[in-house]
Amino acid sequence: ASSVACLMLSGAAFAADLTVGFSQIGSESGWRAAETTVTQQQAKERGIDLKFADAQQKQENQIKAVRGFIAQGVDAILIAPVVATGWDDVLAEAKDAEIPVILLDRQIDAPEDLYLTAVTSDQVYEGKVAGEWLVKDVGDKACKVVELQGTTGSSPAINRKKGFEDAIAGHANITIARSQTGDFTRTKGKEVMESFIKAENGGKDICAVYAHNDDMAVGAIQAIKEAGLKPGTDIKVVSIDAVPDIFLAMSEGEANATVELTPNMAGPAFDALDKFLADGTQPAKWIQTESKLFTQADDPKGVYESKKDLGY
Ligand code: AHR
Repeated sequence: ASSVACLMLSGAAFAADLTVGFSQIGSESGWRAAETTVTQQQAKERGIDLKFADAQQKQENQIKAVRGFIAQGVDAILIAPVVATGWDDVLAEAKDAEIPVILLDRQIDAPEDLYLTAVTSDQVYEGKVAGEWLVKDVGDKACKVVELQGTTGSSPAINRKKGFEDAIAGHANITIARSQTGDFTRTKGKEVMESFIKAENGGKDICAVYAHNDDMAVGAIQAIKEAGLKPGTDIKVVSIDAVPDIFLAMSEGEANATVELTPNMAGPAFDALDKFLADGTQPAKWIQTESKLFTQADDPKGVYESKKDLGY
């Protein structure tokens, strides 16, 4: 692969010439699987040779993969960073090697000059949208919420928590009674929800579950059903991602609301990379994707039908 400097000088950076390394977190959720599929499709359409590395949820594997990409001399690196901290050294190595790095779907705590851009949603806003939906739905009633957090130390877990808390602040009738990580997986979401139900009078004291992603919400729905309660009615369910399965649950009245996160982070990332390599155009440091609220009123069956073949 040509070096970035050469490509910029020649002014002939066509996506088709590119080799890009992609360090993916793993496959913890339906959304994650969709992001992998879409990234591979986007690369294929553009003739990009995509080197894929699955980190199995471990930052150390991501760092190893990035070092491997640097050693191979790839033209650019995409990283979906599992946690927010601990990236400075490896990003400085990529910078020294003049390899641009683009972050996908999660933010990091590192100096901005260490990466070209980050393509992510506004995760605080996502949490806020979920919280505002609950505030409206609950009205003046007392509501004990249980929260299923995403992976500890990840930017969506930190930010979605904050956004939700901001939204319910000032509404003393709504309180977060319990909050624990479910690691963004269905299995953990179910397990943790079971323990919340046990601790809260067999679930009878819980008014709503706020899950940082749909997969944990789907796990929680299962736990609520097994406890003999009705998800969506006895316990309201609000989450984030908008994967097909949550629309199915919404169409059956078992989930109430979700905030959409596009799995297409790679499209905007490759567009920005193309321009940067062609003539040095610096993209914005943050390329923000849209966040849209869906409720049971938004034809969940129809949305499910339109999304179900997209590979997630
Ligand atoms: O970083 C995005 C989050 O990671 C998604 O909301 C979740 O499903 C995933 O695993």
